[in-house]
Amino acid sequence: MANDQEKEAAARSSLRFVKDGQVVGLGTGSTAAYFIQLLGEQVKNGLRILGIPSSDRSREQAESLEIPLTTLDECQQIDVTVDGADEVDPQLRLIKGGGGALLREKIVASATRQLVIVADATKRVPVLGKFPLPVEVVKFAQALVAKRIEALGAAVELRRDTGGKPFLTDENNHILDCRFGQIPDPDSLARQLSDMPGVVEHGLFIGMASVVLLANGSEIVELWARDK
Ligand code: 5RP
Repeated sequence: MANDQEKEAAARSSLRFVKDGQVVGLGTGSTAAYFIQLLGEQVKNGLRILGIPSSDRSREQAESLEIPLTTLDECQQIDVTVDGADEVDPQLRLIKGGGGALLREKIVASATRQLVIVADATKRVPVLGKFPLPVEVVKFAQALVAKRIEALGAAVELRRDTGGKPFLTDENNHILDCRFGQIPDPDSLARQLSDMPGVVEHGLFIGMASVVLLANGSEIVELWARDK
């Protein structure tokens, strides 16, 4: 099965977590886009939900599908969020932010009762860190933060857009892609990054996922967090 079909299959299998009347967080990325597309079809067929998008991109997609939306200003409790991931380890710790939306994604996830992660099976790894860890930084501090992260053992690169300009997040910050190779202790690294002045947010999502749905060929593997 092609990668895209697996992404769609994972997204499709997440629909059963969404119930009538709920507030639903809308993730970002190609797998989350399949979810939003499928959710739009359900809304057309009568499902009543309110979506909270985790990026401008996902908001535009949801609007084009006429999915009713709300905001965190109006509603601070999200029933279920469906989002993608760049890596998932055996403890369901995640690297996210490949699409550059990690800050709003983490805010949405933090307000969510049940975070459902959808991905193809290539995202499952024994140890996080092969995928460069995205770290969102304020522009003023980016060189200083890059130096400090390099001192932790990563090769750090400022993310650029297709035109070669520094990539701008929805919140107008920059992203440093940090190649660690392996992150033996993600919890400790998460704390170190959060403690660095100038870091707005990092792409380690720890203790947030309730369930991960991984499409492997035509099979969906469900991984549940123990404490959720
Ligand atoms: C965006 C993300 C995405 O969820 C992550 O990059 C996975 O994307 P895709 O589903 O396209 O592989 O974190 O910031």
